[in-house]
Order: sequence, then structure tokens, then C-alpha cells
Amino acid sequence: MGTKRHFRVWRGDESGGDIQDYDVEVNDGEVVLDIIHRLQATQTPDLACRWNCKAGKCGSCSMEINGKPKLGCMTRMSTFEEDETVTITPLRTFPIIRDLVTDVTFNYEKARETPAFAPPAGVAPGQYRMKQVDVERSQEFRKCIECFLCQNTCHVVRDHEENKAAFSGPRYFIRAAELDMHPLDARTDRKDYAQAEQGLGFCNITKCCTEVCPEHIKITDNAIIPMKERVVDRRYDPLVWLGRKIFRRDQLDGSAHGDSMAPSTSVGVTGVAAGTPFSSARPSEAAPVRDDGRMDVAELALPQQGGPSPFGDDQELPLPPGEIVYNHPAPGKDDTGPKGDAH
Ligand code: SF4
Ligand code: SF4
Ligand code: FES
Repeated sequence: MGTKRHFRVWRGDESGGDIQDYDVEVNDGEVVLDIIHRLQATQTPDLACRWNCKAGKCGSCSMEINGKPKLGCMTRMSTFEEDETVTITPLRTFPIIRDLVTDVTFNYEKARETPAFAPPAGVAPGQYRMKQVDVERSQEFRKCIECFLCQNTCHVVRDHEENKAAFSGPRYFIRAAELDMHPLDARTDRKDYAQAEQGLGFCNITKCCTEVCPEHIKITDNAIIPMKERVVDRRYDPLVWLGRKIFRRDQLDGSAHGDSMAPSTSVGVTGVAAGTPFSSARPSEAAPVRDDGRMDVAELALPQQGGPSPFGDDQELPLPPGEIVYNHPAPGKDDTGPKGDAH
């Protein structure tokens, strides 16, 4: 027999609601989702909560526990103090359907807008060959379980419904990065697309998304920052630097040449992303303002930058077929697919 603990759970629907108090039994080894299930079984059979796997793999049970975006099934009761009240609320960034269930359509719309994998010309499905070393960097992003905790925590859209049209969010930045680093993806404009259409420029690298990711994907360091770095590469070209020394700044202002860090889609962006204070946002890690009143591009001044591209930063993807070496796992056996330099 466990002990009774105090819980507060948000109850309501799109028309409104409030936090209600419950005392629920807690046993050793239980997680927050167990408590919700016990609550449904003993006191509130109509309490709505989404879940599927109870193993941290389906991404359904996302909620806010004591204000922090978490998976209910992966949050152990033993992580709270014995007498601590545990408050459970729905994700704040998405519209409420009922109780702990929110409408996450925003994310699926952004998924649909993200250009899909573009197969290489002349290679049929089943004949794609990649070296492990070429996929290692992007493989981390495939761990995403689409829990949308990162989307929920990002201050660009949290409390800023008006920013959603112009901002895809961290989950789709890692998708763009994954495809950008994919050795066989035929599109070469992933970074520019992310900047122009997905709102990459609105991200000011607060790293909140990385902090809440249950798969420990280094969203900011390994996806967002490397993409931002390459978007701004041309700004750090030595010839461009020389030009900036010779010409007046207003003659070279990036925004006048379509070279601005701001995305072309700038539909009503507000909050920190628009440079205005926003109370619930974490302080930005942006670089300090220089004497001329401008700022260095923040990501290049940060202590943790993304690593170099394994392909070299000027490599056009996909790699030329002659440079892709496929080592068949069973040498000597007949293989109907392409191998060696033959494809
Ligand atoms: S680093 Fe911050 S601003 Fe950028 S996507 Fe993540 S949470 Fe949003
Ligand atoms: S990147 Fe992490 S936090 Fe974001 S949806 Fe995927 S698993 Fe969840
Ligand atoms: S129930 Fe599947 S991740 Fe929690």
C-alpha cells in the first residue's frame, strides 16, 4: 500500500478550466502517468490524457509537470520531494482539446511544409548506398519521437500564436538539418529554405529546446547552429570582409542585398524573436553589442559551436558517385545492387 500524495491537475476544455486538487496513492517505482491512470481509475474517469507506449517512445504523453515540459511516462515520482505537490498541466503552446490533451496540428502542418527527402537522380529505391561515416552526423536526429516538447518550450511560439505562421520550430529545424546532412539528398537549398521559409533566423539559440528533449538530441548545437553558420558563411568570406572595409556599411547592408539574417517571411513576429522583451523567455545568449551599435552573429561568438561538416564545409551534396565507396557486408557474394564505383 503506497502513500497518499497531493496533486493538482488542470481540468477543462477550449472554453476554459482550472486547476483541481486531488490526493492520490503513490507506490514505489511509479511515474506521473501511473498517477494519472490511478486518478482515472479511482476519482476522475473522464480525465483526458493522451498516451500509448508508457516507455518514452511514442511521444504521446507530453505534458507540463511543475511547469516543465516532460513525458508523463518518463517522470519518476521519486524525483519529487516526499511532501511536494505535483502540478500537471497541458502543453501551453497548443490549443486545448480537453484536460491534458492538446491539439498539436501545428506540428503536422509544419511537417507537411518541410520538403521531403529528394532521391538522387538515376538511383532506384533499394539501391541507395551510403557509408556509415556519412550518416553518423545526421543519425542523431532520427531518434526524434515527435513528442513536441521542444516545439512547446520554444519562446518564439510559446504564448505567441501570431509567430506560428512564420516559424516551423526546432523539431523541423532538425529535420531540415538531417536532410541537409544526408549524403544522398538531391536538394542543395535546405539551409536557405530553413532561413527563408522555416524561420530559422528567429531562433536566438536559447537552447531551451535542447534542455527538454527526452531523446537528448543536441538540437541547438548539432542542427540549428551548423545550419545558421552556413547560412552566414558568405558574410565571412574574406572578399566580403574586404568590401566591408572599403565601402560604407550602408552601401553593403545585408538586408539591402537579400543577405539579412531575418527570414523573408516576417509575418508579425513578436516577443524576443522580434527584439522586444518577453517576460517568460530565458535570457538570450546573444553576443554583446559592439561599439558601432551592431552585434556579431550570435552563433559564431558562442562557446559551443557546431562541429565541422564531415564532408568539408564547401561540399555540394550529394557526393559525386565516384566518391561514394560501398563496401558490401559479404565480400565475394554476388550482389544485384550497385557497389564500388560502379554506380
Ligand atoms: S534554441 Fe531557443 S529559440 Fe531556438 S528553436 Fe530552440 S527553443 Fe527556440
Ligand atoms: S526533437 Fe526531441 S523534444 Fe523535439 S519532438 Fe523530437 S524527441 Fe521531442
Ligand atoms: S506514453 Fe509513449 S512516450 Fe509516454
